Amino acid sequence: MSICHLDGRYLPLREARVSPMDRGFLFGDGAYEVIPVYSRRPFRLEEHLARLARTLAALRLPDPHGAAGWAEIVREIVARNAWEDQSVYLQVTRGADDKRSHAFPVPIRPTVFLMSEELVTPPAAQLETGVAAVGAADFRWLRCDLKTVALLANCLLRQQAVDHGCAETVLFRDGFLTEGSASNIFIVRDGVVLAPPKSHLMLPGITYDVVLELAERHGQPHQVREILEDEVRSADEIWMTSSTKEVLAITTLDGRPVGSGRPGPVGRQMYAWYQDFKNTVMRSG
Ligand code: PDD
Repeated sequence: MSICHLDGRYLPLREARVSPMDRGFLFGDGAYEVIPVYSRRPFRLEEHLARLARTLAALRLPDPHGAAGWAEIVREIVARNAWEDQSVYLQVTRGADDKRSHAFPVPIRPTVFLMSEELVTPPAAQLETGVAAVGAADFRWLRCDLKTVALLANCLLRQQAVDHGCAETVLFRDGFLTEGSASNIFIVRDGVVLAPPKSHLMLPGITYDVVLELAERHGQPHQVREILEDEVRSADEIWMTSSTKEVLAITTLDGRPVGSGRPGPVGRQMYAWYQDFKNTVMRSG
């Protein structure tokens, strides 16, 4: 049975209840993080908590715990759940007022919710073939750098992929690559890994940073620059990255093969570096 944390209490997930007046429910007014945990050790926790603090500050939502307090709650939730590898979901909303009003209420207590699931990374068969994706216009707001729970646009965009039997939607804004509906996107052209620069148009992924660090460490040619939609559509390789998907090849885009239509050599190498890094840093470090 999955154990969650709600406002200071640990309880079975199916017993957890929040008010319908919660601003997370009424307005999507809140921040979240998804933290991968390997062998019961949270991966890049400091970075996830720093991103949470940035989102909360931008939402003008008082941080109810601070990094040390959050780390303790994450540690506890991991300890209380059964799996060695977990995906910890952490959410803070502005809380429940007694009336519905767009403007911030006089200070109320934020609602804090954490739950955990078994971390299931892409299975071997999927790594072998890669996944299919569709392309779509990125119609989200202009603060995609914030990890907020207002994810309706992301949900609509992800559903476009699912409707076509695909795993992810690759987003383009004004002719440039931004990211995926729930992942960052890298491409490879002529042996060079290309990543779009961080901006208000994409989430600064923790996995994105790890991938660029690994490229740097291993002398893999890479460049962070704006990427044209045409460059994506004629790329040798496309990858999606996230805390739960790690590094996963996209091998068809809108029904057309990417490169050879199989996961390419640079992506396979990056996947191996990522696994090696994870296993040395997390499992035996
Ligand atoms: N999503 N971009 C978007 C829009 C995302 O939702 C995510 C992750 C990422 C990758 O970020 P990171 O490497 O820090 O996981 C990029 C999480 C996993 C989710 O919403 O479930």
